[in-house]
Amino acid sequence: MTITDKIKKLKKERKAVILAHNYQIPEVQEVADFTGDSLGLSMEAAATEAEVIVFCGVYFMAETAKILSPQKKVIMPDKDSGCPMADMITAKQLIELKNKHPKAKVLAYVNTSAEVKAETDLCCTSANSVKIAQEAFRQDEEVIFVPDKFLAHFTAVQCNRSFIVWPGYCPTHAEIMPESIQRKKEVYPQAEIIVHPECRPEVIALADQVLSTSGMVEFAKKTKAKELIVGTEPGMIYRLKKEASEKKFYPASEEASCPNMKKNTLEKVLWALEDLSFEVIIEDSIINRAQKSIRKMLEITKQPARQQ
Ligand code: 13P
Ligand code: SF4
Repeated sequence: MTITDKIKKLKKERKAVILAHNYQIPEVQEVADFTGDSLGLSMEAAATEAEVIVFCGVYFMAETAKILSPQKKVIMPDKDSGCPMADMITAKQLIELKNKHPKAKVLAYVNTSAEVKAETDLCCTSANSVKIAQEAFRQDEEVIFVPDKFLAHFTAVQCNRSFIVWPGYCPTHAEIMPESIQRKKEVYPQAEIIVHPECRPEVIALADQVLSTSGMVEFAKKTKAKELIVGTEPGMIYRLKKEASEKKFYPASEEASCPNMKKNTLEKVLWALEDLSFEVIIEDSIINRAQKSIRKMLEITKQPARQQ
């Protein structure tokens, strides 16, 4: 029996579902029941009837699944796959910032710990930050945006407003420089440029589209362009090629790999199902408070857009 066959057999026995982020290695994506971006994965985690969620991504994503489905067992194949950006702010630091701005509301990117989410009014992902900011806050309202200064900048420009910003960023996306996009564009002048909003503003300024990872998949399927330069983690190329095989995709930077996203392997997925570990455990009081900010995000995301 192959490892994949063993995983499929055990998955049925355990009544488990495997969720994988778009940056996971191809073998892990192939064995998953659902592959998506942070928003899609959180929706899937909220809706699943499985008893066990095997989360192949990074820690904050598995925590989000647990917060939305506290009665389920959520396990991670590699307990050390964290997100350095999520680690750039602690709950204590957020509380201090809130004390400095007592009237401000808090909007947190989902790339944060459960403890930070518990101190937050509302969450957003890269797919919905603009909609959430527009629908949930008045233009003149004070809003703290944590932890990604680049997503905050992109969202603020799109909404024509300002935020109180925490200086966090994604070290992987920060490696993508405008020069590398320009070099690719010289080689492939017909290519459209799509980038993730975690990129630097100078990179975003060169883009035709700024999209979440699943937004990139949808755009790649419908665009008339035959070639795309992709400004995000290069693991994304596998998913894009699979979903839009007639197009050509060029990573803006091959070096901008997220080491944490690559820690999961097929063997670790199998071991996780065998031992039902590593389990994500979060205190009930944190779950209850953090859940409000994620559920509110999901509600607003499903609502039709308000006329501006
Ligand atoms: P997406 O939600 O767009 O998949 O992004 C998550 C992430 O961590 C990108 O670095
Ligand atoms: Fe975190 Fe960046 Fe890796 Fe995404 S790519 S999980 S934001 S470090």
